[in-house]
This record gives sequence, structure tokens and C-alpha cells, in this order.
Amino acid sequence: MSVIKVAILGFGTVGEGVYRTIQSHEEELASVLGKKVEVAAVLIRNKEKDRNINEDVLVTTDFKEILCLPQLDVVVEAIVGKEPPLTFLKKAIERGCHIITANKEMFAHHGKELLKLAQENKVSVGFEATVAGGIPVIQTLGQLLKINRVQQVQGILNGTSNFILTEMREKKQSFAQALLQAQKNGFAEADPTNDVEGFDAFYKTMILSRIAFGEEPNWQDVEREGITSVTRDLIDAAEKLGLRFKHVASINREGGQITGSVQPVLVGKEHPFYHVEGVENAVNVHSDIVGRITLQGPGAGMFPTASAIIEDLVYVCQNHYHDRSFKQMAAVPIEQKKGQISETWLVHGLTKTKINPLITWLDQASVDTFIIRAEKKDVVELANQQEDLVYFPFLGEYQSAIKLKPKALSAL
Ligand SMILES: NC(=O)c1ccc[n+]([C@@H]2O[C@H](COP(=O)([O-])OP(=O)(O)OC[C@H]3O[C@@H](n4cnc5c(N)ncnc54)[C@H](OP(=O)(O)O)[C@@H]3O)[C@@H](O)[C@H]2O)c1
Repeated sequence: MSVIKVAILGFGTVGEGVYRTIQSHEEELASVLGKKVEVAAVLIRNKEKDRNINEDVLVTTDFKEILCLPQLDVVVEAIVGKEPPLTFLKKAIERGCHIITANKEMFAHHGKELLKLAQENKVSVGFEATVAGGIPVIQTLGQLLKINRVQQVQGILNGTSNFILTEMREKKQSFAQALLQAQKNGFAEADPTNDVEGFDAFYKTMILSRIAFGEEPNWQDVEREGITSVTRDLIDAAEKLGLRFKHVASINREGGQITGSVQPVLVGKEHPFYHVEGVENAVNVHSDIVGRITLQGPGAGMFPTASAIIEDLVYVCQNHYHDRSFKQMAAVPIEQKKGQISETWLVHGLTKTKINPLITWLDQASVDTFIIRAEKKDVVELANQQEDLVYFPFLGEYQSAIKLKPKALSAL
């Protein structure tokens, strides 16, 4: 039986997971591909660490040694940061290898460039693991896009943020306590900025946008907010109305324009994201023929991520050579709405505001926390007038929990 030779760059959580999965699923891989899959080399940075790697595998800190192997078919990259991974992958493509990456930060910035280079060199690129870990969202979108026109993709894409919000609500913890727990469980890095400030979800959203719409919104125009503004009091107030905070990334195509946001939002019981808890991820795709589809599952971790990479391994080996560059989709005609769309918000800190005819008051969650319906510009205007006012959008159709008493209004 002939052999497919693989190099794994990085031997941390993901790299080791891929190595172990190739060993544990040797027979399945051989039966699907008709070839034995063998790890020929592993690239590491620190030689001192103990690793459980077979003696016949080249373990090196020098990528050139890997490039010089007599046979090399696939390079799997599981390193952190943009460089040197980008340079390694370019060299691998030029050598004629298929590449697979889990590195969303690098791929969000340089995916287009790598796909173009791969196309020129007639090799394939797998990047399923860059978005939502083990959930096959990229394969699903690829499948849907054959005929369906995708209009919107929304997702809970950062497991650490979702874990923190869940812990704060369920265990009545502060943000700091929940973050510490996430770090103890190995879900959050020592420096959690990328997760809790929304950067990680932002990178994944840009990758999804390219898959779904063939292009991205202007990065500067995408509202990016993490979960640090969501306090325990706000979570408790929302819970009284049967609502939960979720950190949601959203990209929409309206006419020819792509818009996006990454921010904390509120969802009610009827929304598919309501029950997505802990480190789970979920992606909701809205397309014109099938309607809404929700995929949910583990968004990170050694084996969920290895699962995405192994499926990519089969994909790149079976599709030699297949053009997987992003397609530019036809614009979906959207019914033009007159004026601006009215939206629902949770606003906190509304104490001195006069009753405003542009706002419809829907519910009251605490003395100064309300659910209102208003256009975004009016809510922004309120926030400009009152520095301590915070507001969060509600996702979906709001079902009023308690009718707001006229007495509450007069107290404003
Ligand atoms: N963890 C997840 O659940 C998950 C899920 C999806 C995607 N990802 C992405 O997958 C990538 C890897 O994540 P991870 O969690 O596995 O990270 P990790 O546990 O920190 O491992 C990173 C590995 O990269 C190696 N490395 C770093 N710089 C290197 C260099 N210049 N040359 C060679 N090796 C180098 C490190 O080597 P040493 O061991 O020698 O220090 C380490 O083995 C990241 O881009 C991450 O965003 C992770």
C-alpha cells in the first residue's frame, strides 16, 4: 500500500491531538484513502519538552529539514501567531504539499494569499479547524453554497467567552472569578485578551464571511466588542425576563453590501443559541432555499479540533487538485424596508431620561434596566447624553415577559 506522508508543525494541544488521531484512526484513514497515512515529521520549538512521539518520526526545530524530506504530501500547521506559520505554509505549498491549518489569526489575515498560491501550485488548503473547532461549518457552507444563497451567518464562536457568561449566570460568579475558572480549566490563555475582547471571534467571522459571501466587510466597519461590559447584575436582570447574554458574531448580506458585528447580545428561550452553554460553539446559517440551519458542538479542545483536521486531511487528499478559492455569490434581492428597522434593546442606567416618543418601552428588568424598542441611532443618542448608559441588542423576535406597568414609566 502506498503512503501519504504528513508533517505536523507545532505539538501543543492541536498538534498532539492530530498525531494521536492519525495513529488511533490508521485503519479508517487507510480504508477511505486507499493509502496508509504516516506522520513523517513534527516541528517543535522547545527541544527540552518530553513528547510521546515514535522514534521513526523526525522531530526537529528546523523547518528546512522537513522541506528536504524525500516524500512530503501534507503539512498540518498548529502553531500560534501569524509568523513563522505563514512563511512555513508558503514554502510547503511551493514544494507541492497540500496544507491544513488551525491557525485562525494567521488565516484571517493571509488566507486569501495562501489560497491563491495553492491554486497556482495546484494543491489544496484545509482550514475547517480555524472556525468553531469540531463543528463542520466550512464543509457545510461549501455544500450549501452549490445552489443556496446564504443571507446571514451568526455564531457563538468563542468557547471561552461563552464559558465565562455561563459560569457568571449559573454559579453567580463575577467576571474575574469566571475568567480564573476558565484559566484553571485550560479554556483561557494567561493573557485572555483575544478571547474576552472579541478578537478571536472577529478573525473567525472574517473567515466565515469569505466562505459564505466570497468577500469580507471592511474590517474597520465591523463593530467588535468583547464580554467585559457584561456584569453579574446585568446577567441577573436579564435572567428575570427569561433572557441570556451570548457573545455572537454576525455577518449579513443585504443587496450588495456585507455588514458584520461581534458583540454581546440577548437571546430568549426560543432562540437556538439560548441553550448553547459552557465551551460549546454554535453556528446558524440562513440561506434562501433551506431557511435556517443551526450546527452546535465543541468549538475547541484536542480531539474536536483534531477531528476537523483529520476530515480536512481526507478532503485534501481526495480532491487533488481541487479549487477551493472563495466564490463571489450573486447578490440576494432583499425587500427594501421603508425607513430604518426598529430594534429591541436591553438598556441599563436609564435614570434621568425623559419619556422619548421614539422609544417603545417593553419590559423592566430592574430599577434602571429596561427592554425597549428603538432605532439604533436613538439608543446611541441616549448613550451619548448619558455616559454610564450601556445597551445590548436583542436577537430575534422579542416576546414580552412582563408588561411594563405605567407606574414604572412615570417613575422615569
Ligand atoms: N486549542 C484549541 O482548542 C484550538 C482550536 C482551534 C484552533 N486552534 C489554533 O491552533 C493553533 C495551535 O493551538 P494550540 O492550542 O495547540 O497551541 P499550543 O498548545 O500553545 O501549542 C502551540 C505549539 O506550537 C509550537 N510552536 C510555537 N512556535 C513555534 C515555532 N516558531 N516553530 C515551531 N513550533 C512552534 C509550540 O512548540 P513547543 O511545544 O516546543 O513550545 C507548541 O507545541 C493556534 O493557532 C490556535 O489558535 C486551537
